[in-house]
Amino acid sequence: MEITSAEFIISNSRADMCPKTDLPEYAFIGRSNVGKSSLINMLTNQPKLAMTSATPGKTLLINHFLINKEWYLVDLPGYGYAQRGKKMMEKIQKLIEYYVLEREQMTCLFVLVDSRLEPQKIDLEFIEWLGENGIPFAIVFTKADKQSVGKTKANVTRYLETLRQQWEELPPYFVTSSEKKTGRQELLDYIEEINRS
Ligand code: GTP
Ligand code: MG
Repeated sequence: MEITSAEFIISNSRADMCPKTDLPEYAFIGRSNVGKSSLINMLTNQPKLAMTSATPGKTLLINHFLINKEWYLVDLPGYGYAQRGKKMMEKIQKLIEYYVLEREQMTCLFVLVDSRLEPQKIDLEFIEWLGENGIPFAIVFTKADKQSVGKTKANVTRYLETLRQQWEELPPYFVTSSEKKTGRQELLDYIEEINRS
């Protein structure tokens, strides 16, 4: 699949104010700074569509981007950024929970994890919570350009081994770099496959 149009529709702080359509939504979630907004820009080939920053905590709202006038990419705020303060953390957690659990159009949640790091407790707990709630998800390893191919492979293998201790069946996963556009076609094809089914 190719993306022929991508437009920003709305940012909001309340899940019940998201667009009132029944188009499928593919949302990106993960720790602050993992590369959610950058991935949206990479997929759409629009470097300035979603706001990115080297400082964690950039995205604080739910952002809807309409793709090919047929489906949405959704940029969510990152979790686990303690410097934001307790109140903000709680607010963001509620927003994420509400979106993930209540948004019926949410078709697949892409959980982004940094390909350079060993499995992080906060991500594993989040993934476990998705499982408990029957949320469809896939894993996206990010920033693969920041290390050798061999190191990425080793880290991905270790991650999958960790997940295997928890899951009988592994979720779909993708290795990406927004910098090098790695994994772009695979992700778009996966979305297309779901859209068709
Ligand atoms: P929050 O909105 O704060 O939760 O962060 P985010 O997950 O949206 O991360 P964002 O896309 O803003 O990226 C954070 C930083 O990582 C930025 O400085 C990006 O340029 C950088 N970055 C993101 N993806 C990649 C990648 O694939 N490769 C490299 N080298 N840098 C990346
Ligand atoms: Mg962001």
